[in-house]
Amino acid sequence: MSLQTVATVPELRARLAEWRRAQERVALVPTMGALHEGHLKLVQAARKAAPHVLVSIFVNPSQFGPNEDFARYPRREAEDMAALEALGVPLVFAPSVEEMYPQGYATAVTVGGPALGLETDFRPAFFQGVATVVAKLLIAALPDVATFGEKDYQQLQVVKRLVVDLGLPTEILPVATVREPDGLALSSRNVYLGEEERRAAPLLYRTLTDTAQRLTEGACAEVALAKAESLLAEAGFRVDYVALRHAETLAPLAAVGKEPARLLAAAWLGSTRLIDNIAV
Ligand code: PAF
Repeated sequence: MSLQTVATVPELRARLAEWRRAQERVALVPTMGALHEGHLKLVQAARKAAPHVLVSIFVNPSQFGPNEDFARYPRREAEDMAALEALGVPLVFAPSVEEMYPQGYATAVTVGGPALGLETDFRPAFFQGVATVVAKLLIAALPDVATFGEKDYQQLQVVKRLVVDLGLPTEILPVATVREPDGLALSSRNVYLGEEERRAAPLLYRTLTDTAQRLTEGACAEVALAKAESLLAEAGFRVDYVALRHAETLAPLAAVGKEPARLLAAAWLGSTRLIDNIAV
């Protein structure tokens, strides 16, 4: 079956109704396009969870701050479609900005809990934008399951909370981060890295793994996190945060103990902001 693209919610619902008539499960993979191997893993996980896979491609303006990279965010529609077609994805939802944010648009989803701190300290409007567009996509498609990458770990926790709080009938399926052989987490924004920055970038993951090791050996979190920040700064990163958090609530943790823990970091190399995280 060849890939079909729809651009409006009524068209999307009409197409999904055909699948629903056969009472078959639908999985949604929400993306902003510029697809890489990490997205393809999301599609594969979706395919395992449901016979019908829908991919959305929408560069969501409301999750970018005024000085962020909305205008230059990579857009590669033809390549994305070819990759999805090769994977056998039958349906893509690629709405316009006007379709998602109609004229006079005045409603947004406000999020607390796992959205507090970390990314929000540096990108204050980000999670309201993400929560709003994810809620709209889930309401438009009402998928049985939706896949989200662990690479954006705080986003994953925010979406899990959102689905519970709004009573949406979708199971959120986390998918492990895909990495380059040198450890750099795949991201559509990696294309911004210059040659020297690309060589330095894997240090973010190495620092996380070394810090996680120290923490599990009993190091004091405050000391281990400060050391991680200074190592990254010495290597030329401008660090936004390195933080130890409860793996689900994302509440700060002073040490590794019985609670499930996650180590998260965000840092700049030149004008590129990298984020990464690992379980501790
Ligand atoms: O992770 C992303 O690509 C985006 O934040 C998402 C979930 C598609 C919402 O725009």
